[in-house]
Amino acid sequence: SHPNGRVLRMIMFGKPGAGKGTLTTRLARKHDILSISTGDLLRQHIAEKTEVGQLAEEIVAKGGLLPDELMLRVVSSKLDTLRHKHWILDGFPRTVGQGKLLDAHLRKQGLPLSLVVNLDVPDEVILARISDRWIHLPSGRVYNLSYNRPRVDGLDDETGEPLTKRPDDNPEVFARRLRQFYASTSPLLQYYGSPRTAFSPDSKPKLVSLRGSSSDEIWPMLEHAVRSIAPSLRERRKNSL
Ligand code: AP5
Repeated sequence: SHPNGRVLRMIMFGKPGAGKGTLTTRLARKHDILSISTGDLLRQHIAEKTEVGQLAEEIVAKGGLLPDELMLRVVSSKLDTLRHKHWILDGFPRTVGQGKLLDAHLRKQGLPLSLVVNLDVPDEVILARISDRWIHLPSGRVYNLSYNRPRVDGLDDETGEPLTKRPDDNPEVFARRLRQFYASTSPLLQYYGSPRTAFSPDSKPKLVSLRGSSSDEIWPMLEHAVRSIAPSLRERRKNSL
């Protein structure tokens, strides 16, 4: 369905607060790419008090991780509707177990991952950002008082609805999320990067690490990485936003 290029099936990987959501949204606004954020999906489940939401509420508030199998179900119910489109996963997988489940799922469909982008941002940069973060819960749009301010303080640019703080953005829970990242999530980089994983040469995704403390540094490198995988990617027309 994309005769002029490979299809982008990408993981946006990085610490909590590295900018995964911000950069995923930016790519999907500019290009013909769809995105799935597990953090946004879980916050919506929690707000709507679904069965998944009731289970997730306490775990998310404490900065823990939900079970791998459950997360695969949450993601695959969305992913299976995207088929041959270009897509980005933000926030999944975040354990080696989830990575293996995802690969098995994609292999069955004959749709292997093409790119893993690791946003490599220093801890001290991240800690400074989080206290300034505000979100629009229904859409997942993210703002920051010192970097990406809303046009009107406290209100979402597109809907005018109020912005909120995430309950897991207080310093104590955030520290726990960062520890959780080092313990459970960072081993995934080995999994994707090591020459001795279960991937066959044609199903092994490209792994790219982007280091920088501002989006002006990271954005051009990110676009380059994405285009190297999917040269046929089109930009959205302005009036389709
Ligand atoms: P999730 O929402 O995915 O949280 P996270 O991974 O901790 O990531 P964040 O959303 O905090 O950060 P981000 O990297 O998207 O950064 P952002 O763009 O907002 O998950 C929440 C919870 O759900 C988890 O803790 C867990 O409990 C559960 N969960 C989710 N997925 C799961 C899974 N797969 N398995 C199990 N449990 C799961 O940017 C951060 C701030 O910095 C913003 O204010 C932004 O404006 C600012 N900023 C961004 N980029 C820049 C820049 N370049 N320069 C300056 N400021 C910037």
